Parts: sequence; C-alpha cells; structure tokens
Amino acid sequence: MTRRHEVLAEMGLAPVWRLRNKPVQEETKSPAPGWIEIKQAVPACTACGLHKTRTQTVFGVGDENADWMLIGEAPGAEEDRLGEPFVGQAGKLLDNMLAAIDLKRGENVYIANVLKCRPPGNRNPEPDEVAKCTPFLKTQIALIQPKLIIAMGRFAAQTLLSSDATIASLRGKVYRYEGVPLIVTYHPAYLLRNLPDKAKAWADLVFAKKTMATL
Ligand code: URA
Repeated sequence: MTRRHEVLAEMGLAPVWRLRNKPVQEETKSPAPGWIEIKQAVPACTACGLHKTRTQTVFGVGDENADWMLIGEAPGAEEDRLGEPFVGQAGKLLDNMLAAIDLKRGENVYIANVLKCRPPGNRNPEPDEVAKCTPFLKTQIALIQPKLIIAMGRFAAQTLLSSDATIASLRGKVYRYEGVPLIVTYHPAYLLRNLPDKAKAWADLVFAKKTMATL
C-alpha cells in the first residue's frame, strides 16, 4: 500500500478507485489481418483478371518466423500446378543457391512472390495486378518480420524499390522495404539462361550472409 493509500484508509476513505487506462481509440479500426485472414483471402481473391486463368493461387512457403525472406516475381506453370513457389527448374537452382549459404527451404527461410497468381504464358505482371496483389505481400512481411529480404530479379527489385534501375546497378547495397533491410540479386530463371552471372549471384549471397550477421 502506498503512503497516500494508508492516509486515505486512516481517514476512512479507502478503497481508492482509480480510473483504468482509457480504452484505445483504435478499437473502431478493423484489426490488421493475421495468417488466418490472409490464408483465406488469397485463394478467394478476384481483384484482378489473373484469377480467371489460374489453376490455384501460390501463397508462399516456409518458416513463418524466418529471418530470411526471398521474393520472386510470380508463379510459373509448375507453381500454378502445385501451389508452391519456385518448384520448377528455377526453384531447383534457388535451393542450390540457398544451400551455398547453409540455408534450406522452410528452415529460417520464407519464399514468396510479388504476384500470387500466374500471368498467362508467363508474361510480365501488369501494374494493376501488382497494385492489387502487393497488400498480400506486405501483410506476409509484417507477419513474418524477417531480418532480411532478398529481392530476386528485376521485377521484384523494381517493384519493391519503386525503381526502374537495373539489377546490375542495384546489387551490392542494402535498401529497405517496409522498414526491412533488402538486397537485390538476379532471378534464378535468369541465371539458368546466363550462366556467367552465377558468380555475381554467389557474391550477392555472400554479401547477404555478411549483412545478416550485422542485423
Ligand atoms: N519464378 C518466380 O518468380 N517465382 C516462382 O515461384 C517461380 C518462378
């Protein structure tokens, strides 16, 4: 009991009622979406035309408490068929790239795409599709709270950094997306077609690993 309470009690004025903290004004705002909401919302999404041609949405895969988050462009044919990102040829290379820095899909790593639906014929995503889909990615990032994002490829990098710069000019620096440190590297599908650039992707991963050690 505090001295003030003791005095009031002696005066026959106890107990002392205190007003609790006022309820937070934000009660009127709808709460931020959680995993349950977003895992229901993505497969149900019809916000852009891609829902008409998809087999299924491709949500993202991995450790929901991961320190590492890798972000690609959009599902391709295999991903659309199986519902998991990076499961085709590019995905095999991505798994090898992860192994090179002692990482493994699903273990402290989360993999997602900017778009959750496959653009027909793997065409480039349209600005409207990106605008409709990025809130899902932002929610995933907010829930995972990764320590580092790796944007893979020109499309993911340019979208997340609101830039039209090339991968070559964006590599080797630490940026931020939604407050999270972000670095840029080549897309695994690009590396399959441009083998000499694999060495640069390797350097990017070493840079990422060193950056992570400082976070
Ligand atoms: N390319 C991407 O950007 N994402 C995938 O999931 C597959 C290929």
